[in-house]
Amino acid sequence: MRNTLRITSVVALFVTATFLFTHFLYKSNNSIPQGEAVSPAPAPPSSNYKTSTVDEKFMSFFPHGDFATQHEAVRNAFRIALETNRTLILPQVRLGTKDIPWAPYPILQKYYESQDKESLKASCLSNTPNWRTEYQPCRDLNQWIELPWSTFFDLEALKTQFGIRVYERTWGHGWGAEESMLAHLQLSSRDVVIVDPNSFPSNGSNWDVQDKQKVVDGSKWFSSLFGGGKVEDETEASKKLVSPLKMLVTADQLLQLDERYIQFGSLVFGLRFQTSTSKKQSALQKGLRSTVFTSPNKFRETNLAAQKITAKMGGANIYNVIHMNLEAVTKTELANQRSMMMENAEIDGTTYVEHFKEKHADETPYSPLELLQQMDRQTQTELMVSLVRELTGDMPIHQALSAAMPFQESALKNLLSQSFGAAPERSRLLSACIQYRKDIDTRYPIYYMTNDVYSDLHTHPELFGPLLESFPCIFTPNDMYNWGVIKRDWATKMSGLNDPDVDYEDMLSPIVEILIARKGYSFFEVPSTKLTRLLSWQ
Ligand SMILES: *[C@@H]1O[C@H](CO)[C@@H](O)[C@H](O)[C@H]1NC(C)=O
Ligand SMILES: *[C@@H]1O[C@H](CO)[C@@H](O)[C@H](O)[C@H]1NC(C)=O
Repeated sequence: MRNTLRITSVVALFVTATFLFTHFLYKSNNSIPQGEAVSPAPAPPSSNYKTSTVDEKFMSFFPHGDFATQHEAVRNAFRIALETNRTLILPQVRLGTKDIPWAPYPILQKYYESQDKESLKASCLSNTPNWRTEYQPCRDLNQWIELPWSTFFDLEALKTQFGIRVYERTWGHGWGAEESMLAHLQLSSRDVVIVDPNSFPSNGSNWDVQDKQKVVDGSKWFSSLFGGGKVEDETEASKKLVSPLKMLVTADQLLQLDERYIQFGSLVFGLRFQTSTSKKQSALQKGLRSTVFTSPNKFRETNLAAQKITAKMGGANIYNVIHMNLEAVTKTELANQRSMMMENAEIDGTTYVEHFKEKHADETPYSPLELLQQMDRQTQTELMVSLVRELTGDMPIHQALSAAMPFQESALKNLLSQSFGAAPERSRLLSACIQYRKDIDTRYPIYYMTNDVYSDLHTHPELFGPLLESFPCIFTPNDMYNWGVIKRDWATKMSGLNDPDVDYEDMLSPIVEILIARKGYSFFEVPSTKLTRLLSWQ
């Protein structure tokens, strides 16, 4: 049975013709250990200095993106650290809803350095804007937190299995000569080299001219931007980049760098950094796909929350997880509508009047909800119809068939037909769904669904109507809170997470979702992001 399912998902993979998995199945057998709570409270600086040998070399990078994107960068960092025998100075992971965007090196640097919470708080409280608040706006102050990666992942295995040395930068945002973790070494700027093939043409070799042209929107623009050839200009020119360059840095180039400290920009785009195919690299790759740095299961509070929800959803392998990135879906849809309207205006010989907005007058970006509400109800419904079609096309065929068939005689059938017009009581609905799945039709799909706009699906039939019609057994984090499966303060019980203005449950929800998805039967994400890839490693 399980084998046929796997084949189905492989076929689906070819059909979707994307290089990322849009769907996969796995049997989750990694239990969540009851790890000790790790205190994220910053240690006093002096106790953090690392003893190091004179020949020890270092590397670090600037993080950006959501949790899964940052995770990808760390994986690439491990690979480069192994290749170059450098100690990785690992920045903390940033959680929350205000991700740092990709930016060329000089700007990413500012984003990174500006994240000092105490200094930001002081500036925001006293209403004195400065360069930090330009990069980290005061309105976002309580919508992001930084925590050491070891809060969630076991980093010991990197050292013991692969000999990769990792120092976590648990305080400060200094790097290179200002490295807070290496102040005792008194590095000078001569000890530091910058490498970022996404930003600086001189840092890598031409990789694929055609791709490069695509990325920078025409080779003319590329050469006019960087044509001067002067290195001082390169930094200035890079600031105008709107997407990463595609230059390639080879393993040899990395090995030839003699400086004690390499500061990379983004390490998210792994193909830009070649490493060898040595035995130790292959072993690391295998480890990273199986047991090492794959499951964020070190944190007691997120583990407990995930365990409770998994149990409520009927236990391991009973439910599927769906993650809808409605902001991304909405932006794509709005862009499509805009270009359609522009075309029509051109055909009619009229002037296109902007219908959609992404920012308020004061430059504050629209929230995902504000973006969505620019679509009328009808358009929202149509959008969901197409998402449901995609979901049905990507789910295991036996589940899709089961969902399309009329219900067999059951408590679930009674419940859904009785309450025609009025939604059934949700807790009873879940019990009936689980019973149906366990006793009557083992292929019937039950879903745990998250999205980035609404906490409740049932109060928004204009959007979720078509989804709930096709798949009535859908439950959300909101249900879990309403039923008291988890309580609103589950995260703050732990030491260190004690800022009363921060919603830690919200910040940590991606971790909980990953843990729940790892116990589920399948995972589906629309549109797919690096999260889908992260979840394919087990
Ligand atoms: C790797 O770096 C460490 C720390 O500097 C050093 O002790 C060790 O000899 C290096 N290994 C190799 C193979 O160069
Ligand atoms: C990469 O480019 C930057 C900016 O021009 C420069 O400062 C740095 O030295 C370059 N690094 C290498 C390894 O060439």
